[in-house]
Amino acid sequence: MCGIVAYIGPREAYPILIKGLKRLEYRGYDSAGVALLNGVMRIYKTKGKVSDLEHVAEGHQLSAHLGMGHTRWATHGEPNDVNSHPHLSQDGSLAIIHNGIIENYGTLKEALLERGHVFKSDTDSEVLVHLIEEIRKNTKVELDEAVRLALCEVVGAYAIVIISKDDPTKLIGARKGSPLVVGIGDGEYFMASDASPIVEYTKDVTYLEDGEIAFIKDGKLSIKTIDNVAKTPFIQTLEMNLEAIEKGGYTHFMLKEIHEQPKSIYDSLRGRFDTSTGNFAMRSLKEYAHKIKNLKRIIIVGCGTSWHAGLVAEYLFEDIARIPVEVEYASEFRYRNPVIGEDDLVIAISQSGETADTLAAIEMAKEKGATVFGVCNVVGSSIPRASHAGAYTHAGPEIGVASTKAFTAQVSVMILLALGFADIKGKKSKSELRNIMAELDAIPAKVETTLKCEDQIKELAKKYKDSHNFLYLGRGYGFPVALEGALKLKEISYIHAEGYPAAEMKHGPIALIDEEMPVVVIATKNAHYEKIISNIQEVKARKGKIIAIVTEGDTKVRAMADYVIEIPDAPDIMVPLLATVPLQLLSYYIAVERGCNVDQPRNLAKSVTVE
Ligand code: M6R
Repeated sequence: MCGIVAYIGPREAYPILIKGLKRLEYRGYDSAGVALLNGVMRIYKTKGKVSDLEHVAEGHQLSAHLGMGHTRWATHGEPNDVNSHPHLSQDGSLAIIHNGIIENYGTLKEALLERGHVFKSDTDSEVLVHLIEEIRKNTKVELDEAVRLALCEVVGAYAIVIISKDDPTKLIGARKGSPLVVGIGDGEYFMASDASPIVEYTKDVTYLEDGEIAFIKDGKLSIKTIDNVAKTPFIQTLEMNLEAIEKGGYTHFMLKEIHEQPKSIYDSLRGRFDTSTGNFAMRSLKEYAHKIKNLKRIIIVGCGTSWHAGLVAEYLFEDIARIPVEVEYASEFRYRNPVIGEDDLVIAISQSGETADTLAAIEMAKEKGATVFGVCNVVGSSIPRASHAGAYTHAGPEIGVASTKAFTAQVSVMILLALGFADIKGKKSKSELRNIMAELDAIPAKVETTLKCEDQIKELAKKYKDSHNFLYLGRGYGFPVALEGALKLKEISYIHAEGYPAAEMKHGPIALIDEEMPVVVIATKNAHYEKIISNIQEVKARKGKIIAIVTEGDTKVRAMADYVIEIPDAPDIMVPLLATVPLQLLSYYIAVERGCNVDQPRNLAKSVTVE
């Protein structure tokens, strides 16, 4: 949720930290701060964005070769200057930045208060730095050991970085449940929540595992676990490039990411099937073929947009592979006592690979003996590492808080998995598979065609920007698309929107319809076409305004709807890949018309690493 960046080396730290914080700002943006160490510890922090922090720091002494920065999404303590990170120990010699939640901070704080500690903020993070100080004072151990001992007392999740006024050659970072990556440059080191602040300087990185602490001292990196076991850093090369994490001429990351979908869908499919043979090249299918062959049930878990991709996958697996599927919100699933075991396959879908509820759900599924596949976008993130197998979605970095290209890449991968499962279970012949694969090959170009509706959508956005409510309706594969369209609109434009199965409208939501209500209907040509036409008539009879997503050349819906947006013809299973695109654009342009901060909508953060 929060973003962390730190630097030690010969360069000026401050510009690296500010640039890094701007790249991490999608993770949280209610306050920001830096600590710079150059003889004295200088802290600049403020409520607001990284640009506000720059104003606060302007004109002050900023030169330092060791420093760290933080951009916050508040959990404990309201977003204000005092609760912003970094936080200092009582004597001011230690500074900490923290992402995560220290669950037992109340108990720790009480004990520290009894020992005379005075806290400035309401945060759990300040408690941790005081705890380290207290342990150091009482046991006279080195800072490294005091950090380790403190972390042994902590219950909860964290990624932390600590610097000490007494040792300007030292940088300490640790992780449990929240990501932390160490970048290794030439005589310099970086630490960050993700690789985006690092990639400009070095491609050599090591991702800390849960329960590991990284110590950088006198230009050397060492890692040990909180149980005091030394670890050899596993250094890997980043595949990310700078272009992928910059806006590249677009006004917002969200718009860039919407437009990237022809490529991101292509990348998610690339090299994974052979249209001429109908064969698959996916490791998880090969390694788990024995399991898939006898599979009786799949449980899909995810949150938000990823849960919507799971709903699409439910239809896919049932249609194509004839396997029963349950789709669960990870947050509900983890706290139930679900009946699962060795015969089940749990598929966790997550863009970030860090969503706390999804991670906890798969840990529980593993404990109960289930096999877990992760379908994630961020390479090396926690969910793929905690899964037995799976597939990356290869959509490239998604920075806009509203998920767009990640969704269509997730759906693409789920189509592949459903087809692969059908192949293994003998539910589709090779010739059927080849035909479907040929249709899939054509999807990136069809998304490109779909994007041409942009000017039409801009006009629609102007017309409907002041609506207070929107209804989104769909049937079959159109239903999860309706949910996704509604989620996009509410999260970035703050307009209330609901997604509904079109036939359910009669059971309640129809009461909402009047001449003020725009109703977006997914009305593509499929088995439900005539039924959805009846639903459109029901809305029209109550004077609702119909915005219909139709198959190109459609005349019937066009005759009834107020507006139609055409998408290319495609098999029903691929319609979510096309029909979602105009809905993404609609929410984007409505948000722009309303003057909303599209990439950083209020109260939200890109990856939800707390429950
Ligand atoms: O990283 P994840 O896919 O696990 O994130 C899940 C949700 O937090 C995410 O999809 C969220 O709903 C998006 N902001 C939706 O656009």
